[in-house]
Order: sequence, then structure tokens, then C-alpha cells
Amino acid sequence: MSQRTLVLLKPDAVRRGLIGEIIGRVERKAGWTVSAMELRTLDRETLERHYAEHVGRPFYEPLVEFMSSGPSVALVVEGERVIEGLRALAGPTDPIAAAPGSIRGDFGTIVRENLVHASDSPESADREIKIFFPELG
Ligand code: PPS
Repeated sequence: MSQRTLVLLKPDAVRRGLIGEIIGRVERKAGWTVSAMELRTLDRETLERHYAEHVGRPFYEPLVEFMSSGPSVALVVEGERVIEGLRALAGPTDPIAAAPGSIRGDFGTIVRENLVHASDSPESADREIKIFFPELG
């Protein structure tokens, strides 16, 4: 089943020069393709929409502070079971709990700076793609 998902390479990934490494891992998956991409520093309004379900939670302010601290790369990736697959490629939220071989497992140590975001469901993917790429509706 071909799907679309929204991926963010977070400011730590961009600062550390890992854009190519991470996109390379995504592109090497058979049949997955990057169909939209933009590098920009995310503003509070965009982040409030993107993280709407987390507003008010203890990690919300540190998350927004970090996510607006420098440029991110937003991507739409398309392909077979790409929503589940991208979450597996990223690994769990806490990089120390993430298996080696996953992006967070290979490159991360602290929860806030966990390198990537990937939509967690088809509904989230549709909602998030509209925020970052309204023209793709
Ligand atoms: S939940 O409860 O399962 O919905 O939460 P989770 O998916 O683990 O986390 C939601 C997003 O918040 C980020 N997060 C944090 N950021 C900064 N500091 C702390 N302590 C923290 N804890 C969680 C986490 O990386 C998720 O962001 P995204 O962009 O979705 O990966």
C-alpha cells in the first residue's frame, strides 16, 4: 500500500551535517521516493500547529525552543508502508533506547535532540503535509 509521510530533519541533524546521511537511508529503501523538500527555520506558529496535541505538556516548551533554534529540512516521502517504515527507521523517541542501525540509535543520545520526526499515522501524515506543503493538500 503506497502512502505519504511527513519527515522533519530536526535542527540537530542539520547542524551536525547529517542531512545527506539521513536522506540517503530513506532513499535506499526500495521504492521510497522524496517527493517534496524544503530547508527553513520553523516559526512558533508552524510548530504550534504541528505539535498541537502536545501543547501544555511539560516537554512542549523545550521542544518548541529546540525546534526553532535553527533550520530544519521538511520532506514528503512516498512509498510502500512508508509511515510505519519511517518510524522504524527513526527508532523510538529516546535515542538511548533505540537500536543501533536506526537513525536515533546510531546518532542520538538525548531525547530532545533526536534528529528526526516522522508522522505516526495516515491521519497525522495528511494533517502535517498540509502544514508544511499546503500546495500538496
Ligand atoms: S507521546 O506521549 O508518545 O505522544 O510522546 P512522544 O511521541 O514520545 O513525543 C512527542 C514529541 O515530543 C518530543 N519530546 C521531547 N522534546 C523535548 N524534550 C523532551 N523531554 C521530549 N520528550 C518528547 C518527541 O521527540 C516527539 O517529537 P517528534 O518531533 O514527534 O519526534
